[in-house]
Amino acid sequence: MTDLAAITLAAGLGTRMRSKRAKVLHQIAGETMLARSLRPIVVLGASPIIVVVGNQADEVRAAAISAFPKTELRFALQSRQLGTGHAARCALPELPEDFRGDVLLGYGDLPAVTVETLRRFLSQHRENRAPVSFITFRAANPAAYGRVIRVSGQVDEIVEARDASPVQLKINEVNSGVYLVKSNFLRDALPRLSAQNAQGEYYLTDLVKMAREQRLQVDAFVADHETEFAGINSREELAQMESQVRNQNVRKLMSSGVTVIDPPTCYVGDEVEIGADTVIGPNVQIWGKSRIGSNVRIEGTAWLRDVVVGDRCHIKLGVRAEECHIGEDSDIGPFANLRAGTELEGHNRVGNFVETKKARLGRGAKASHLSYLGDTTIGSGTNIGCGVITVNYDGYDKHETLVGDRCMVGCDTQFVAPVKIGSDVYVASGTTIIRDVPDGSLVMSHHPQREKAGWMAGFHKRHAGRKPWWEK
Ligand code: UD1
Ligand code: CA
Repeated sequence: MTDLAAITLAAGLGTRMRSKRAKVLHQIAGETMLARSLRPIVVLGASPIIVVVGNQADEVRAAAISAFPKTELRFALQSRQLGTGHAARCALPELPEDFRGDVLLGYGDLPAVTVETLRRFLSQHRENRAPVSFITFRAANPAAYGRVIRVSGQVDEIVEARDASPVQLKINEVNSGVYLVKSNFLRDALPRLSAQNAQGEYYLTDLVKMAREQRLQVDAFVADHETEFAGINSREELAQMESQVRNQNVRKLMSSGVTVIDPPTCYVGDEVEIGADTVIGPNVQIWGKSRIGSNVRIEGTAWLRDVVVGDRCHIKLGVRAEECHIGEDSDIGPFANLRAGTELEGHNRVGNFVETKKARLGRGAKASHLSYLGDTTIGSGTNIGCGVITVNYDGYDKHETLVGDRCMVGCDTQFVAPVKIGSDVYVASGTTIIRDVPDGSLVMSHHPQREKAGWMAGFHKRHAGRKPWWEK
C-alpha cells in the first residue's frame, strides 16, 4: 500500500454543458476530460484511485477503465448529486480502513493539471504537515470559482461564488479544486459537512473551514499558471481548453524540430511523438499513441490515430489511418483509408481510393488505385492493379486471402476468399479467383470475347426518332 490515495469526483451531470452526456465524458484533444483529469494521478502512482460516479455511471466507469486498462481503479456510486462534499463521502467506504496516508482529492473536470505540479504540491504539503492543503491560483476572471478568504494572510475558508458577498466576490485568489487531506481528518470531517448554503449542497470546500474551526493549519499552494486549473463547466470553456491544449502540444512539437505549416489547424494528442524534420501541412489531426518518424511529409487534411509511421514516409492529401503500422519510405494517398490492422513493412505504396483492413503488405508491395484489401497478406514486391477486391465476407464470416511475393495482379481482379495465391503469379486482368493458384503460374478467367459486326446500326434503328445519349 502507498501513502497516497486519490478520489476523483465525476458523478455530476454538468448542467451548464446543456448535454445529455455526463460532463466528464466530453472530450478535449481526442480524450475524455475524465481521462485527462485522472492521468497525472495515475502517473503519480496514487493507490487506490477511487472514482465517484453517478450520472451515466456505467459509461463514465467504462471510459475510465478503457483509458487506464492497466491501472486498478475503484468506483464509488453517488446515486443522488448532493454536492462535491457528499460525493467525496460516498468514496470513503472504498478507502481501506487501515489507510493512514494522504488523500489527493480532485474533480473530473480539470483536464489540464500536470503531474509536475501535483508532485510539487505533494512535497509542499508533506513539508508543512498541514492536515489540509489545496491549490489556489489568481484568476483574471474569478467568475464562478470559490473565493479564497484569508485572515491576516492565513487561509480561513473557501466561499463559493453563489454564497459570496460583493466584497468577497472581488477577491481574485480562487480554489482550483485540488486538495491533499490527511485520511484521518477526511474520515472525521466528511460526515459532518452541512448543506446550509445558497445551493443546499454539501460542499467539499467546507473542509477548510472545519479545519480552521479546529485550529488546524490549512496550507494554500499558489499555482503559477492559471490555465492549468481551468475547470470546464460550459461548451465555451470546453472550446477554450481545446485550443489551449492544441497550442501547447503544437508548440512542444515545433520546439522538438517539427515544422507545422498552420499551427491553428494542427491537432495533436498529448501522447503523440513526432520525429525531427517532419512537416505537417494544414488541417491535420494526430491522436492516441501515434508515433511519426523523422522526415515524414504529411501534406494535409489527414486524420491519424494510434498509427506508427516510419521515417521518410509521404502521407498525401486526405488520408485516414487508425491502429496501423506504416513502414519507412512509404507513400500513402491521396485519399486512402487505412483501417485497423493494416501493416505495411516499408517502401510501400497505397494510393488513391484504396481501403485496407487487417492487411499486411510485404516490403515494396503496392496497391496504387481503387482497391479494397481486407483480411489479407500480400507478399513483398507484389503489385496490386487498379480495382482489385478481396471478397472477404460471406455474410457470416470473414475469410483470408494470401498472395505470395513478386506477383502481378491485374486490374479488376477479385479474390474470393479463402484463397491462396503462390509467389511469382501473374493474374490476368478481370480475373475472378476462386481456387488456390500455384507458384509461377498465369491465371485468368476471361470469357471469350465476341463481336457482332454492324450491330450498332440496328440498335439505333430500333430507337428511331429518339435522341441518342450524345445529343441529350
Ligand atoms: C468547484 C468548487 C469551487 C472551485 C471549482 C474549481 C465546490 C463546492 N466548489 O465548483 O470552489 O473553485 O470547483 O473548478 O466544490 N460532482 C459530483 N457530485 C456532485 C457534484 C459534483 O461528483 O454532487 C463532481 C462533478 O462531476 C465535477 C466536480 O464534482 O467533476 C466539480 O463539480 P462542479 O459542479 O463543476 O463544481 P464547481 O461549481 O465548478
Ligand atoms: Ca467545475
